[in-house]
Amino acid sequence: MDRVTVSSLKEMKEAGQKIAMITAYDYPSALFAEEAGAEVLLVGDSLGMVVLGYDSTVPVTMEEMLHHVKAVVRGSKRSMVVADMPFMSYQASYTDALYNAGRFLKEGGAQAVKLEGGGEIAELVAKLVTAGIPVMGHIGLTPQSVNALGGYKVQGKDLKTAQKLLDDAKALADAGAFAIVLECVPAALAAKITESIPIPTIGIGSGVNCDGQVLVYHDVLGMYPRMLPKFVKRYADLSSLIKEAIRQYVQEVKEQQFPEEKHSFTMALEILERIY
Ligand code: KIV
Repeated sequence: MDRVTVSSLKEMKEAGQKIAMITAYDYPSALFAEEAGAEVLLVGDSLGMVVLGYDSTVPVTMEEMLHHVKAVVRGSKRSMVVADMPFMSYQASYTDALYNAGRFLKEGGAQAVKLEGGGEIAELVAKLVTAGIPVMGHIGLTPQSVNALGGYKVQGKDLKTAQKLLDDAKALADAGAFAIVLECVPAALAAKITESIPIPTIGIGSGVNCDGQVLVYHDVLGMYPRMLPKFVKRYADLSSLIKEAIRQYVQEVKEQQFPEEKHSFTMALEILERIY
């Protein structure tokens, strides 16, 4: 079956069909998310927090991202795999940005990259697109700039910042981005941005009128206990299930209830008797 492409996502917007995107970080998460019907798998730099245990996404490196992108690509056949460009992999120079984005496609096997930033990165987006690298934008709350933004806060609530977000979205669309993540943008502003640009918007904490939605895999499944943003809907509580299963295993090991005979292998007794 063919992979989802930038054109199929645009067609979905035009047809009013919602796009489901979820993060994935390894082979099983890619397999499950694709089988569940997600069109786009984002290997988000959120992996730094939910998989690698950092306090923010800032320390994530290209090598860490590439390692996980490759696993997600191996676990998917049909979904589009988007690789998140980590902090400082594209800010220092166009050369760095082109080289690092290219690595995600050439070495990682991803179909596209995602970059945080608005009008200020439009020229870079145009260069990447010209080089044949599909780009997803990301505006609103941009976690890599958490230190500059002063925390994880809703963006675009006053006239100046709301106008800037709309201008940013238009600039990214004009530069050739194929979709834009809107993170923590008031729902009414996200709806206005969505109807003002020809490419799909993918919301996270930005209301129902975006063209699609994205959530972090570990948040959907209840596997990241350190924080639960207001915009997350938890569809399962896997932390409890996992802990309970491992607790039972530990107990059965200690009480010699595991392994049972059916988990063990046999051999001819006369061979056993001949060894000393
Ligand atoms: O890194 C990530 O998971 C993201 C999504 C939350 C959009 O950027």
